[in-house]
Amino acid sequence: MSETQQPTRRTMLTRLGILLNAGIGAVLAVPVVSYILSPLRGKNGKPYNQWVRLGPLEQFPEGETRLATFRNPVVRPWDGQTADIPCWVRRIEGEQFQVFAINCAHLGCPVRWFAASGLFMCPCHGGVYYADGSRASGPPERGLFEYEHKVEDGQLAILAGQLPTLAAENRTARRKTCDC
Ligand code: FES
Repeated sequence: MSETQQPTRRTMLTRLGILLNAGIGAVLAVPVVSYILSPLRGKNGKPYNQWVRLGPLEQFPEGETRLATFRNPVVRPWDGQTADIPCWVRRIEGEQFQVFAINCAHLGCPVRWFAASGLFMCPCHGGVYYADGSRASGPPERGLFEYEHKVEDGQLAILAGQLPTLAAENRTARRKTCDC
């Protein structure tokens, strides 16, 4: 072995070591980075929140609140009917809507709309909400959660995937655009 070959071999071994360490580091980093980014990516590469259509506008008469159902966009084959999620749609007038999560803001029981009294009522502990989703009485400390929504091609669509929890912001945004 000559003197001139030793540095070359050492250099090669060093590079091989670095390459091996980098490879192992990359392999270990994939699941960690994937876990950190998973809330952004959602499931199966799809984002958690996606626009889902509830139906044509004619399905929701002005001045009425109606039950609608949508398929959770983040669904697994074995989810079955549990991926069909109900929500309450209130058409104020024209293209002004409110779409409420069916779950009570107290402990999540499904609330029901009573058109005669103009109230949402929760069967579990007596929570009551006004027609605009704001709290009327009972244990809930706030109003119903609202889905972000839009009208597109004559269809009402909501941003679905996760339980809405930003009702206050949604309501504020809506009030900026209408007098309701
Ligand atoms: S879950 Fe609705 S009032 Fe408790």
